[in-house]
Amino acid sequence: MSQTLTLRRPDDWHLHLRDGAMLRAVLPESARHFARAIIMPNLVPPVVTSADARAYRDRIMAALPEGMEFTPLMTLYLTEQTDAHDVAAAHANGLISAVKLYPAGATTNSASGVRDFDKVRGVLDKMAEIGLPLCVHGEVTEPEIDIFDREAVFIDRVLDPVRRATPGLRVVMEHITTRDGVDYVRSNAQDLAATITTHHLVINRNHILVGGIKPHYYCLPVAKRETHRLALRRAATSGDARFFLGTDSAPHTDPNKESACGCAGCFTAPNTMSILAHVFEEEDALDRLEGFTSLNGPAFYGLPPNEARITLTKDDPVPYPDKIDTGDGPVSVFNPGYALHWRVD
Ligand code: DOR
Ligand code: ZN
Repeated sequence: MSQTLTLRRPDDWHLHLRDGAMLRAVLPESARHFARAIIMPNLVPPVVTSADARAYRDRIMAALPEGMEFTPLMTLYLTEQTDAHDVAAAHANGLISAVKLYPAGATTNSASGVRDFDKVRGVLDKMAEIGLPLCVHGEVTEPEIDIFDREAVFIDRVLDPVRRATPGLRVVMEHITTRDGVDYVRSNAQDLAATITTHHLVINRNHILVGGIKPHYYCLPVAKRETHRLALRRAATSGDARFFLGTDSAPHTDPNKESACGCAGCFTAPNTMSILAHVFEEEDALDRLEGFTSLNGPAFYGLPPNEARITLTKDDPVPYPDKIDTGDGPVSVFNPGYALHWRVD
């Protein structure tokens, strides 16, 4: 007899939808399973002002196929020129759910990010006052810091000082990849949470580099050694409400990934729920999947959990496409390296 699992409809607390043809192609892949998502603002040019966010939200809604329901939770890209009044107004009228901090140069389209934290002090103070979360890409960018150490160094040199200087600032450490990230969240009782991606629960750095370089496993922050992956799995499946799903599903066309200078990002939107059910079952924690995908995130963001339910059934291997076609070119779907048996009905 096949096994079934019913959950409140999940949300994705970190998602890249892009724009134009790519947006139209990838949006249904998320909307099929997820009710809401925190939408990353790293377009070219980035979503910096409330006017940018309103226009982007309208483009997302226009790209949503008839009959699908999906709520984009918009974010603003923090720059050294960001206007605290614009941020506060966008929060007050319900347009935005968070502000995103990219250290300048940390990842895809992050050139307009923050170099000098003194220049964003006024915005951070305002956010602490109004309770608006800051979503943080937690990596330093100094060239002398080894790429595998950039998250741990960021916590010590940037995140902890910023949080101490801004009491009450609510922070989401996005896509944590290390035991250091897990420990930092666990050691802080208040105002701090972390998202964990699907792919960082599945791959470690060997998957990227052993037996030939695998560009479709390259993302930022880059996957770390196995001990870190295991720490992430323990955190995600622990039931601790400070950890929740942010897929960081980040589509790039195959030519842009399979290149001499390939883009960072794993496209996990189509099979995330099947992979997570597999991972949680392996950890004997299927009863905690709903917390991770559907309850902990809304609780942190002060939103009600979704009323609708989804059912997963464990059965024959689940077919999912190798790649999807977009107007911009093919985009490979993340391959966990094993068959998936949990199907979203
Ligand atoms: O792998 C990633 N891809 N990490 C990021 O931080 C950005 C994202 C993207 O936009 O492609
Ligand atoms: Zn991202």
